[in-house]
Amino acid sequence: MNRARLTLDPRRRVAPVPRRLFGSFVEHLGRCVYGGIYEPGHPTADADGFRADVLALVRELGVTTVRYPGGNFVSSYRWEDGVGPVDQRPARLDLAWHSLETNAFGLDEFMRWLGKADVEPIMAVNLGTRGTAEAVDLLEYANHRGGSHLADQRRDNGTPDPYGIRLWCLGNEMDGPWQVGARTATEYGRLAAQTAKAMRRFDPDLELIACGSSHYGMPTFGTWERDVLTEAYDDVDLISLHAYYQPVDDDLPSFLASAEDMDRYIDSVTAIADSVGAIRKSTKKIMIAFDEWNVWYQSAAPSKPPSGEDWPVAPPLLEDHYSVADAVVVGGLLISLLRHSDRVTAACQAQLVNVIAPIMTEPGGSAWRQTIFHPFARTAQHARGAVLDVLRDGSTTTTDRYGEVDAVDAVSTWDESTGEMTVFLVNRVTDTPAEVTVDVSGVQVTGIIECVTVGGTDLDARNTPDGPDHAAPRANGTAQQAGAGVQLTLPPASWSMLRLQAAEVTP
Ligand code: AHR
Repeated sequence: MNRARLTLDPRRRVAPVPRRLFGSFVEHLGRCVYGGIYEPGHPTADADGFRADVLALVRELGVTTVRYPGGNFVSSYRWEDGVGPVDQRPARLDLAWHSLETNAFGLDEFMRWLGKADVEPIMAVNLGTRGTAEAVDLLEYANHRGGSHLADQRRDNGTPDPYGIRLWCLGNEMDGPWQVGARTATEYGRLAAQTAKAMRRFDPDLELIACGSSHYGMPTFGTWERDVLTEAYDDVDLISLHAYYQPVDDDLPSFLASAEDMDRYIDSVTAIADSVGAIRKSTKKIMIAFDEWNVWYQSAAPSKPPSGEDWPVAPPLLEDHYSVADAVVVGGLLISLLRHSDRVTAACQAQLVNVIAPIMTEPGGSAWRQTIFHPFARTAQHARGAVLDVLRDGSTTTTDRYGEVDAVDAVSTWDESTGEMTVFLVNRVTDTPAEVTVDVSGVQVTGIIECVTVGGTDLDARNTPDGPDHAAPRANGTAQQAGAGVQLTLPPASWSMLRLQAAEVTP
C-alpha cells in the first residue's frame, strides 16, 4: 500500500477557480460541426438544425467556453463565406482537412447554438492566409452595434444585437509547418501585435490570445514564445499552449503521470513570459490559455481522407474511442490546470463532439458519453470558489518518462459560500492502492458529502453507443472522517473526487 498525506488550508489560496478553465473546442473538422452539434433532419434537431441530445450532453458536461472555428481549419477560412442566406454560401475546399466545407454552418449559427448551450465564445481569426483587415472586419460584423457596412450585414442576417465576443485567438499554431500560412516567430509576433492594436482601436477591453508553440516538443519551443512576446507583449493578454497525450510503447505508468509534462510545460512558458516582462520592466503578467489539450491517439484514427480528387463533406476524422485509463489521465490533466489557475485562466479540451471528443454521435441516432466525459463533468461541476495550495507528502513512483513522481497527485478547491471543500485525486500507480490522509486546518470538516472513483479496474474498457458506461463514477466507500481529517483508499490507476462539508473555525 502506498501512502499520501495532503494538507489543506483555506487560507492558502492559489487563485479563484477560473470558470473559463472548463472550455471546449468546436472546429470545422470531421463530424464535429456537421453530424455533431448540427444535423438538420435528426429526430432531436430543433428548428435551427441543432441536435437537442447533443446540447443536453454539452450542458451536462459543464462546458463554460467554446473555441471556434479552428484549429488548423481557421488558417485558410474566410468567415464571410459562412454568413448570409445559406443557399447563397459558397462551398470551399478546406485545405487543412482535405474536406469540402459547405458553409451551411457559420458564425451566426455558431453564436445561436452557443446561446442555447449557455457558454461563452472564444473566436479565432485567420492569420494564416489572411491578416489584420479581415480580423477587424470579423470584429466589426460580430461586435459593432450597427450603422456600418458589416454590422448592418449582421443585422440584415437576423441578429440586431452585437455579440460582444470578448476573447479572441490571434491565429492558430502559426509555428507549425502543417499550418496553411505558417510564419517565423518574429513575422507572426509583428502580425499579432499589429492585429491586436487594430482590434483594440475598436474595443480596448478585448482579451487577446497570441499563439504559443504548437506543442512542448516543437524544435523552436521557447525561442518562439520569447520572440513572439518580444514583439507583442504589450498588445496581448494571453499566450496559448497545446498538448495531446497518448501512451508511448504501452508505458501506462508514464501515461498516467502525463500531468507532470503539463506542469513543466506551463511552468516553462510562465518563466519565459515573465522573463520577457522582466526585460521590459513591465508590471503586466501574460496569462496562459491552454486552448487545446486532451488524450489523442495520433495515429489510431484517420486524420485526413485519402488525398486526391475526392473532397468529402464532414468525413469521420480523429474519432478516438477512449478507455478508462484515458479518463484517469484527463482527470489528472484537469488537476494540473487547476493547480496553475493563478496563470492558466482559460483552457479548452479538444474537441467537443466526435473529433477526439467526450461526446459521440451516431448519424440519425444516439449521442453518448465517452469515458473521458466523466472526470471533466465532475470537475467542472464541483471545482468552485478558490483553488488551494495542497501540500503533498508521501510515496513516490518511478516512471520511465518523468523519473520519480508522487504516487498520488491532488488539488483542492474551497467554496466559502457553501462551505464545500473538494479534493480531486489521482493514484498514478498501476498495481498498488494508496491510502490517503487529508489533513485540514483552518476549517472543521463536518461531513463527507460524496466520494467517487473512476478507474481501478477495466482500464482498457471503452464505451459504446449501447453502453455500459465504463467510467461512470462509482461510490468509493472507503472515505471516513478520522480526527481532524479524512482517510480514504484510492484503487490503483484511478481518479477520485472527495467532497467535504466544512465550517470555518473561529480562533
Ligand atoms: O484538435 C485537432 C488539431 O490539433 C487542431 O486543428 C490543431 O490546432 C491541432 O494541431
